[in-house]
Parts: sequence; structure tokens; C-alpha cells
Amino acid sequence: MEFVDAVAARRMCRSFLPASLPADVVDRLLRLAQRAPAAGNTQGWQFLVLDVPAAVDRYWSVTLPSERRGTFPWPGLLRAPVLIVPYADPSAYVARYGEADKRARPSASAAEKQALAGGAEMWPVPYWYVDTAMAAMTILLGAVDAGLGACLFGQFEHEAAVRAAFGVPEALRAVATIALGRPDGTDRPSRSAVHRARPGLDTVAHRGSW
Ligand SMILES: Cc1cc2nc3c(=O)[nH]c(=O)nc-3n(C[C@H](O)[C@H](O)[C@H](O)COP(=O)(O)O)c2cc1C
Repeated sequence: MEFVDAVAARRMCRSFLPASLPADVVDRLLRLAQRAPAAGNTQGWQFLVLDVPAAVDRYWSVTLPSERRGTFPWPGLLRAPVLIVPYADPSAYVARYGEADKRARPSASAAEKQALAGGAEMWPVPYWYVDTAMAAMTILLGAVDAGLGACLFGQFEHEAAVRAAFGVPEALRAVATIALGRPDGTDRPSRSAVHRARPGLDTVAHRGSW
């Protein structure tokens, strides 16, 4: 598949066939995710991979109680055979930017170097989210290329419950959850996808000045 076609075809898919995915297909997507760019090449991402029915069921049991399932607008999402939770590790970035080569960067002031190595709260842009989101996007595009569907959705207030259910280390932050599988062909785009058009380039690109 051409890159531009994969980008153009990518849409969130929220209705899947229950068929499982071969492990090597999932591994290939995870390897692609590892190709994402990373600040200082820190690669401070981790992936919780839920690829057996018991694990997927456990995820949904802690995030979508059975009494809310009847009104859940995307029942086909629950059939996705694989869920991947990309986690960002802030401490990996603080540690990396305290390493000798980062501290020797001539382009950074002493105050900036001190700040970045000082703690996650000192970072003006938290690169762990930037990098992990790019890794997640690579999975979404890789899924299109593999003929699969994928949906990235937020964990919102369930982050702590998911962490506890799967023994995820306290320091990691969930960026989202990605459902993966084969589309069942009945998917319909979300209301936001329908009602919020992609604006013209002149609306978002500010050439030369704002
Ligand atoms: C950070 C992020 C969080 C999202 N959270 C949800 C979500 O919780 N539920 C959902 O159905 N879609 C979620 N989406 C999908 C967006 O609604 C979707 O990307 C947008 O409407 C554009 O549609 P498209 O991706 O199909 O082109 C999320 C997307 C992103 C990037």
C-alpha cells in the first residue's frame, strides 16, 4: 500500500469481527511502533498487549461495567480481539536528559539542562506523550497497511483501574487504548468524524506569520 493511501484510508474502526489475529501480525505492528521518533532517542514507551480473550474481557470488565454495556454506542468495539495500551514513561526522559551527552548540549542553557533532568513537571512539552502518541499513530497506520481496523480511544477515569488489573508500574501513564482487529464491515463513523470536517489548509497553516 502506498503511504498516502494508508494515510487517506485511516479511520477509526469501532466494529470488529471476533476472529483472533496471528501473533506475528501484532508483533509486526509493535515493531513498527518502535520505529517512531523519540526525543533523545529515549524510546520511553511501553505497550500492554492484551491478545487473548480472558485479558480483553478483563479490560472491558474494569472499564465498562455490564450495566452500562446495553447503552454503549459501539458494541462492535468490544469484539476487537486485541487491545494495546501504549504507556509513556516520564522518568525515562528525565533520566535520559540527565545523561552526559544531553547535559553537554551546546544549544541548551544551563537552566534548561538542569530543568529537564530535574523532574517531569519541569518539561514545557512532555516529550513522553509526544513520542508515545507517534508510536500509537504508527500502529494505526500499520493496521491500515495490514488490512486491519483500529480505534484509539481514551481511558479517562479508568487509568488507575486498568493499571491495577494488569500490574502496570505506577510511574507509567496510559496515553490511550488501541483496539485492533478485522473490520466487520458494519462500522459507521463517529458523530465527530461526520460533523467536524477537516478544514482547508489555509485555516491551519500560517505561512510566514500568523
Ligand atoms: C487522543 C484521542 C482520543 C480519542 N478518544 C476517543 C474515544 O474515547 N472514543 C472514540 O470513539 N474515539 C476517540 N478518538 C477518535 C476520534 O474521535 C477520531 O480520531 C476523530 O473523530 C476523527 O475521525 P477518524 O480518526 O475516523 O478520521 C480519539 C482520538 C484521539 C486522537
